Amino acid sequence: MTRTLPVDPRSPQPDVISRAAQCLRDGGLVAFPTETVYGLGANALDATAAARIFAAKERPADDPLIVHLADAADLPLVASDIPAVARTLAAQYWPGPLTLVLPKAASIPGIITSGGSSVAVRVPRHPVALALIREAGVPVAAPSANLFSRPSPTTAAHVREDLEGRIDLLLDGGPCPVGVESTVLDLTCVPPRVLRPGAVTIEMLRAFLPEVTSGRPVPRPDRAPASPGLLDTHYAPRTPLTLYAGPPELRRARMLTEVTALITRGARAGVLVSDEDAALFRHAGAFTVALAPEGDLDTAATRLYAALRTLDAGQVDVILATAITSDDHMGAALSDRLTRAASGRVVTVH
Ligand code: TXA
Ligand code: MG
Repeated sequence: MTRTLPVDPRSPQPDVISRAAQCLRDGGLVAFPTETVYGLGANALDATAAARIFAAKERPADDPLIVHLADAADLPLVASDIPAVARTLAAQYWPGPLTLVLPKAASIPGIITSGGSSVAVRVPRHPVALALIREAGVPVAAPSANLFSRPSPTTAAHVREDLEGRIDLLLDGGPCPVGVESTVLDLTCVPPRVLRPGAVTIEMLRAFLPEVTSGRPVPRPDRAPASPGLLDTHYAPRTPLTLYAGPPELRRARMLTEVTALITRGARAGVLVSDEDAALFRHAGAFTVALAPEGDLDTAATRLYAALRTLDAGQVDVILATAITSDDHMGAALSDRLTRAASGRVVTVH
């Protein structure tokens, strides 16, 4: 049975934290809010507990877990041969949505790193996550608390939807303030590479790492082929989704034509568009989810995964969504998640 405990996201109640920390020390699974998405935590030094994460999520064993710390000073507990730039980045961005891939310490069981020689680590910014990890007194392995291949959870209800009955405890601290997963930066390769874009952008990293690059890593024999978070369909809703890009007027007209054609054929169309465009598509008869005001990428990030779940639950046959093409700030992270949700299907209207 999964027990849900409400927790104050700003000043978590000590009795709730102490109970959840005990559960982690006992080898249990605890879902908790972070500033990005909800995580599914287990004691990272306990291989049996970590194995339960993979079972609960139905996650393949070749997809390594992120280890969470309460303090950057604990880095030597999980990583070895820590380069100076890791400390600089930690000082700048921790606690926060940046994950560093470093050579692993011997104490980290192979199941965490999928047998690889590197470990992903971050210090989250959410008061509940920090209090829980500190009180547990151990590093906490935590992937996103969703079933593998479902959109990441940004509310406790999302976690229950996917994992009810599969985990011991769920701390309900309300919605996650950022909404998309952390930036993953691999510092074990030359040049360092952003494996997953997030709220800490490549431009922000470039100030400390002028040579930093991004995109699909070159396969290496000592680790999983490509960080599976980079698989095209990883964040996909169950319903096929297509992105529409191009000048706003043309793009809107094309989406409307498609929606009308679908409805005429007796199909149910779902759309994901800006707040400004929502009324237009609602009138056309589409199941419409408004993502955010045009150009408000921070709000779009906080709502994206909830929107994908709503569309999935809306019993539609196809989803049409406005592409996000801006690369600044949250643009790269949003465009990355949307392109994966679409499994790469993008229609560019000229
Ligand atoms: O924001 C986040 O990072 C959230 C919260 C809970 O902290 N966690 C999260 O974990 O998104 P997960 O497991 O859903 O995604 C972790 C990503 C995966 O794409 C995984 O393949 C990659 O990090 N990863 C983990 N260890 C790695 C390693 N040693 N080398 C390369 N990639 C790694
Ligand atoms: Mg995930």
